[in-house]
Amino acid sequence: MKDHLLISDIDNTMLGDDEAMSRFTQWRTNEGQGLRLAYATGRFFEAVADLVKQSGLPAPEAVIGGVGSDIRRFPSGEYVKEWHERIGPNWNGNAVREHVSQLPYVELQPPDCQSAFKASFYVQDATPRQRDEIGEVLKTIGVDGHIIYSSNRDLDILPAKANKGTASAFLAELWSIPHDRVFVSGDSGNDLALFEQGFHGIVVANARDELKDLDGERVYHAERPYAGGVLEGIRYWLERENPGGDGD
Ligand code: GLC
Ligand code: MG
Repeated sequence: MKDHLLISDIDNTMLGDDEAMSRFTQWRTNEGQGLRLAYATGRFFEAVADLVKQSGLPAPEAVIGGVGSDIRRFPSGEYVKEWHERIGPNWNGNAVREHVSQLPYVELQPPDCQSAFKASFYVQDATPRQRDEIGEVLKTIGVDGHIIYSSNRDLDILPAKANKGTASAFLAELWSIPHDRVFVSGDSGNDLALFEQGFHGIVVANARDELKDLDGERVYHAERPYAGGVLEGIRYWLERENPGGDGD
């Protein structure tokens, strides 16, 4: 099989069914050797490194962390600095935390969920009006940011150009892998951006409603949940590339 790249979400996508995850790893060792792997997650690099050590999560070559706000090589942890140069202008994470957390319905997430390029909050069942109001705060303080809302609770504010999709496109370019040889997989709202870059998309069966409505030529809705759905999706896309072939 030619070089392909899987960029997958972790929580409730790769993780959720340990047996399916080991089947994925087995497939990769036997048939899917050309499959390079990166994660795009709301977590940060250190948490992903712990998961790789402790829970059998396959080791990636890079981690797009903090919902697309960091790109780091694995296992070294070296930052892809050009990404921060690209997303950095007109951004101020501390000002976002300070001003947005003053709204009565907003709760700041704990310190280990915050970084220079990611400001994260909890807002239960955010209404469009509340989201507009948060957008107004960003305008008032002159920060060029945008809101990513997931799981009816997690509200992330990131630099305007940063999301899982734009960071993934940056990584694919860095590694010279054309978009039609990139698979992306996810289950919730912060994964939506992965499906906006012309990659071959996989929505796992356990996905939240936030992703259920995705459609179009580049979206495959798997019948299986978690890593079993990811593997099903990869096979689906490989078969379409090479009908009747053995995936080589
Ligand atoms: C992860 C992060 C959290 C973020 C959420 C959704 O759970 O830890 O900060 O809000 O993903 O992106
Ligand atoms: Mg997830």
